[in-house]
Amino acid sequence: MTGRLAGKIALITGVGGGIGAAAAARFAAEGARVIGCDLDAAATSHGDIRVMGGVDLGDPEQARQWVDEAVAVHGGIDILYNNASAQRFGTLDELTVADWDFTMRNELDLVYYTVRAAWPHLRRQGGGSIVNVGSIAATRGVEFMAQNAHSAAKGGVIALTLQLVVEGGPHGIRANVISPGLIETPNTAPMLADPPSRLRSVVLDRIPLGRHGRPDDVVNAAVFLASDESAWVSGAHLVVDGGGSVLG
Ligand SMILES: NC(=O)c1ccc[n+]([C@@H]2O[C@H](COP(=O)([O-])OP(=O)(O)OC[C@H]3O[C@@H](n4cnc5c(N)ncnc54)[C@H](O)[C@@H]3O)[C@@H](O)[C@H]2O)c1
Repeated sequence: MTGRLAGKIALITGVGGGIGAAAAARFAAEGARVIGCDLDAAATSHGDIRVMGGVDLGDPEQARQWVDEAVAVHGGIDILYNNASAQRFGTLDELTVADWDFTMRNELDLVYYTVRAAWPHLRRQGGGSIVNVGSIAATRGVEFMAQNAHSAAKGGVIALTLQLVVEGGPHGIRANVISPGLIETPNTAPMLADPPSRLRSVVLDRIPLGRHGRPDDVVNAAVFLASDESAWVSGAHLVVDGGGSVLG
């Protein structure tokens, strides 16, 4: 690795698995001091990566405690990477109000809570980089699976990011959002190993670059947006989907 994040203090949410685990490992390999968290209590520190398990970021007080603990350990924050999310899928007939609320809480509210907790520290330091995670489901209809709550929540993350750009700019705070396409993780691997025909025909067979995504495809974008290489980039919506969304 090339030390692209050397000296940076990086807070990453949802490092217990999937893309977040890959991000924590890569950010550390690039020289960042990584402090992660996850709802999963089994997520624990390993190597140079400090992890607080059992943190529910959907609770604003727990979000604040995690951020404050990270600041207490390392003295500040340079990067806040809002990766964590949980959602419930269902058609409008099936999805309950509780499912909708769960999705908003665990995809949108938790981003607001961590940003709110980190903001005074970022301001005090004279700035930093916020990397949020949206989804291509936020900007187009998805045919293979009903995603009403998920799409709306991720649309909220993208909209919130734009406002963070404006409010953060005078303080040196940058904010950008990555929207991944379908990425292979432990959760999606079984579906990708034996894709339903509808998923194959409307998504997998229509990716111009010819394959589904890998965690590193997303993490590569995050390293750029977290590093000083993107010092004059704020408000970018970086779609990482093998080109699939241009086909509509
Ligand atoms: N995998 C994909 O195909 C894909 C596609 C588009 C967008 N995304 C987005 O990328 C990000 C990472 O996706 P992934 O596939 O690695 O997800 P994942 O479900 O594998 O991992 C998400 C992690 O977040 C944690 N988490 C959930 N709610 C939390 C809470 N309230 N407090 C603390 N931690 C919580 C989970 O425990 C989990 O470890 C998410 O924002 C997701 O919406 C993923």
